[in-house]
Amino acid sequence: MASKTIKVEPFDLVVFGGTGDLAYRKLFPALYHREKSGQFTDPTRIIGVSRREMSREAFQASVRETLAKFGEAEDGAALESFIARIDYLPLDATGEKGWKEFAAWLGDDARIRAFYLATGPDLFAPIAKRIGEENLASPSSRIIVEKPIGHDGVSAAAINDALGAVFLEKNIFRIDHYLGKETVQNLMALRFANALFEPVWNSAHIDHVQITVAETLGVGGRGAYYDESGALRDMVQNHMLQLLCLVAMEPPASLEADALRDEKLKVLKSLSPINESNVSQLSVRGQYRAGFAEGAHADSYQHDVANQTSDTETFVALKLGVANWRWAGVPFYLRTGKRLPQRFSEIVVGFRRVPHAIFDHGADGIPANRLVIRVQPDEGIKLWLMIKEPGPGGMRLQHVPLDMSFAEAFGAKSPEAYERLLMDAVRGNASLFMRRDEVEAAWAFVDPIRAAWAQSGETPRPYAAGTWGPAASIALIERDGRTWNEEFE
Ligand code: BG6
Repeated sequence: MASKTIKVEPFDLVVFGGTGDLAYRKLFPALYHREKSGQFTDPTRIIGVSRREMSREAFQASVRETLAKFGEAEDGAALESFIARIDYLPLDATGEKGWKEFAAWLGDDARIRAFYLATGPDLFAPIAKRIGEENLASPSSRIIVEKPIGHDGVSAAAINDALGAVFLEKNIFRIDHYLGKETVQNLMALRFANALFEPVWNSAHIDHVQITVAETLGVGGRGAYYDESGALRDMVQNHMLQLLCLVAMEPPASLEADALRDEKLKVLKSLSPINESNVSQLSVRGQYRAGFAEGAHADSYQHDVANQTSDTETFVALKLGVANWRWAGVPFYLRTGKRLPQRFSEIVVGFRRVPHAIFDHGADGIPANRLVIRVQPDEGIKLWLMIKEPGPGGMRLQHVPLDMSFAEAFGAKSPEAYERLLMDAVRGNASLFMRRDEVEAAWAFVDPIRAAWAQSGETPRPYAAGTWGPAASIALIERDGRTWNEEFE
């Protein structure tokens, strides 16, 4: 199916932290894809700024090199036009260097201006403040920030205050890149563009929901950040709770940003608290030890972060409740971890079993229907149904999936999340971004879990790299008579 590209008005995109990992690995490749698809209108400009002294030409060469490294630089004309848009200025975010030149570069053109802070979160507030002091933001200028937005509710509120002092909330784009993933958006299409699911999307028909984000990688070169963060703050506070919101929210009145975000916020506020009274029944945290992962020996987490006494969790499993009419009594099981045997993210909606068995299907009875939404890799949707095995020999039943692979159905590789998100931010469409109150509500849920863990005095349970996390995470779901979805093909 041909993709449709809607042109974007000329804009200036400023990437703070322009020589950093996020910029090179994600932002420039995503922007280049948009160039290739013909989305930019002249005279769109992109500028990297960072403390490092570098000429425009050297920076352009470094972007060219990264694109080549990721096998992206094959399209001659688009590549040249993309590189020609790119500029660079050395600038000290917290000092004096470069700000005058930067203001001159921006000029007073009325073009849309987007400031992307691909920096550590400690620089979000100072950079926003400085943009304000230097009068570089107009009422239409946008600021784009990445998680982590703070390390708890209090620090998130401080960052939000600083951003809000200079930019209108509608111009603050807080990225959760999971919301830019195609299948995550497809979850909304599935729920709200099909009349089939909504009538059964509630506790009368749904038994439980599982959300898994499994990674095979360890913490790589991000040890310093990760050791301060851990899986709960790195993955659950943002990506996983956002996925949960999209599954659990009420149908919004429209796709308009606030209509959508109002509904997600209600879900976050309905989460049953996990605190010292129930943390040991509802949560499991783990930390990987040495093992065998990705076909080779893998070191322990403590070795990876060079901290032999670290008690940061690299795995977390939670059993959550959404305390409202739709979901009362339906558990949501979440798990995420590093150094697990496979990389995949999926949402499993487990329906209730048929109320009465007329077929003989062994001791376990007829398996329940399941809807599996595969976020990555191999994006697609499977609806597991019971059918009669073809042929004679009586009524033998089988559990088989109605299987839709997006790659097979549409023949196209899904665009990277950042492509969509960057263009949405430039266009001013905030539907796929988190509003201030959502971020703070997510922290309000997560902070007591961390406090309860700290109070318990327990350390994370060990699991060998290359395994499915601590045995207790399997017990978390199995003691309710359910199992983690184990169909990964
Ligand atoms: C990031 C986390 O937000 O998401 C990383 O900080 C994690 O620790 C990554 O690896 C996962 O993203 P994806 O798109 O590879 O699933």
